[in-house]
Amino acid sequence: MKITLSVIKADIGGFVGHSASHPAILKLAEKELAKAKRRGTLSDYHVTSVGDDLQLIMTHKKGENSKIIHKLAYDTFVKCTKKAKELGLYGAGQDLLKSTFSGNLKGMGPGVAEMEFEERPSEPVIIFMADKTEPGAWNLPLYKMFADPFSTAGLVIDPHMHDGFKFEIHDVIKHRKIILSSPEHIYDILALIGQTGRYVIKRVYRKDGLIAAVTSTTRLNLIAGKYVGKDDPVMVVRAQHGLPAVGEVLEPFSFPHLVAGWMRGSHHGPLMPCSVKDATPARFDGPPRVIGLGFQIKKAKLIGPRDMLGDKSFDRARWEALRAADYMRKHGPFEPHRLGADEMEYTTLPLVEKKFESKFKPIK
Ligand code: F6R
Ligand code: MG
Ligand code: MG
Repeated sequence: MKITLSVIKADIGGFVGHSASHPAILKLAEKELAKAKRRGTLSDYHVTSVGDDLQLIMTHKKGENSKIIHKLAYDTFVKCTKKAKELGLYGAGQDLLKSTFSGNLKGMGPGVAEMEFEERPSEPVIIFMADKTEPGAWNLPLYKMFADPFSTAGLVIDPHMHDGFKFEIHDVIKHRKIILSSPEHIYDILALIGQTGRYVIKRVYRKDGLIAAVTSTTRLNLIAGKYVGKDDPVMVVRAQHGLPAVGEVLEPFSFPHLVAGWMRGSHHGPLMPCSVKDATPARFDGPPRVIGLGFQIKKAKLIGPRDMLGDKSFDRARWEALRAADYMRKHGPFEPHRLGADEMEYTTLPLVEKKFESKFKPIK
């Protein structure tokens, strides 16, 4: 049976500031998706949040880019925005960049990660959702999961994974894509995806064509042409039985790597794995957070979730993240804590340069 798993998210308003979602918003989204399930539009759903981002996790049989599903998500975000405005939540409707829906959410602001696949007899999936960072944050963990034998033992041990995987990489600046294979092209893959602000892994396939992972790749600032917040990406990964085991999918998050985002979308900081309960950026609007919800999908029903990154085995990663946060914060406004000027969302540098334009003298 072919099913589609759609994860669609938007920041429609924060409580308090950009730190979390208000329970009334989650309740309203829940109500809207429950109605859609009763109508038969959805097979199942789960509503959650990470920081100020509302997450709609949905299963259905309408395929990827379905107008009906995208419209459902859009309408839900519009209704939640109305509620957010009533409550005076911060930045209400910040990710809804366009006020009319024209068939698809592409370029409208919300982030979308969808995959259609033949459901296996047992279908474990992990849905990762991050706040205060950008889609390139998934590059390092995805590489480790699907191409690094020091992280994923199955690449060496499991004959079904031994041939490796294919990476669909998007150039979000030039709007083009390329498919490269591991292990054959690992150095080329790394040459590209190490540049996290430009090249992002969109999909990973097993060599026989089976879809294994998909990410959201919106860059809001590129859509809007001005700063409208970080993209706070999501990612879906299928696990087990010829794919990385659940523990291999989670393993990369034991290292809280540095990502772009954090305060004002303009600072590097550690990506801290945490439980849903702790997905509430606070210190310096962060540090950036990632949650991972595990589901078994059966006949398109979402059995779960389990709060995978809330597990004790990630306690040390959290401490390491907090230590790294201290270390990075000590740099104050200096690079590389603050992003380079071309990557900075809130750049006042051009204004400073302009202000002193006439005072700058040539160096002889
Ligand atoms: C980063 C983020 C926050 C805000 C910051 C300032 O993605 O959402 O760090 O950038 O709180 O917000 P404004 O400009 O709305 O006062
Ligand atoms: Mg916000
Ligand atoms: Mg956010």
